[in-house]
Amino acid sequence: MSQNLHHDLQPQHIAIIMDGNGRWAKKRFLPRFIGHQKGLKSVRRLVAHCSALGINALTLFAFSTENWRRPADEVNKLMGLFLKALQKEVSKLNENNIRLLIIGDRSGFSEEIQTHIAIAEATTRDNTGLVLSIAANYGGRWDIVEAVKKWQLANPGLNVSEMTEEALDRYVALNELPEVDLLIRTGGEQRISNFLIWQMAYAEFYFTDDLWPDFDEASIDKAIESFSSRERRFGKTSEQVAN
Ligand code: IPE
Ligand code: IPE
Ligand code: MG
Repeated sequence: MSQNLHHDLQPQHIAIIMDGNGRWAKKRFLPRFIGHQKGLKSVRRLVAHCSALGINALTLFAFSTENWRRPADEVNKLMGLFLKALQKEVSKLNENNIRLLIIGDRSGFSEEIQTHIAIAEATTRDNTGLVLSIAANYGGRWDIVEAVKKWQLANPGLNVSEMTEEALDRYVALNELPEVDLLIRTGGEQRISNFLIWQMAYAEFYFTDDLWPDFDEASIDKAIESFSSRERRFGKTSEQVAN
């Protein structure tokens, strides 16, 4: 992961906590699932827009390790939607030179979903445009623990006391991408909910009350504009950064 020390006007890596589908539906007296379906439409729109803007990486939080605690019916429907999206969206992503990655603990998914994840990643592997990562059964704490385990496997002769930040960084999810520089959360809550905690150590945060199904091209342009106006100091003084 490389930290972006100069201040780009446009973020290189945007991560989004797509929240508010349920409330969007509730406001309209519709079942929560309709909110999730509408949310998928927002995903399509935003992926196309970020791709057109030339953003390098977009990472979307679709299902957290904690979301299994929801009612079984909602979890099942979300799994159905995930499978359908994997089956139906990949050819379009491929046409648009988008590379798809799925991060999270795949062992929690059905065999069928795991197979389609593998196909989707293999199909788009050589694409050179936007890198679209979907975080599914993902948790930031899980990610860090996994990284430590992978580090240990790769360095059987070393003691954990010899581990460095740089060495561990090679084993966290998305390590080959630029570090997340802009985190957006829709739906009004101002929390991380166990998303990319390692990767967002120096990200700019942008919170909006917009519910995810209402979040559109103009909304993300506003978030990017806010990002562009911020001074990123990375621990230095304002005077140092200006020089
Ligand atoms: C986000 O929307 C989507 C997932 C977590 C899968 P929510 O379903 O959390 O919507 P709210 O927060 O209940 O409105
Ligand atoms: C975070 O949203 C996870 C996703 C968007 C997938 P939640 O709606 O699950 O978060 P909490 O429970 O309000 O923190
Ligand atoms: Mg929510």
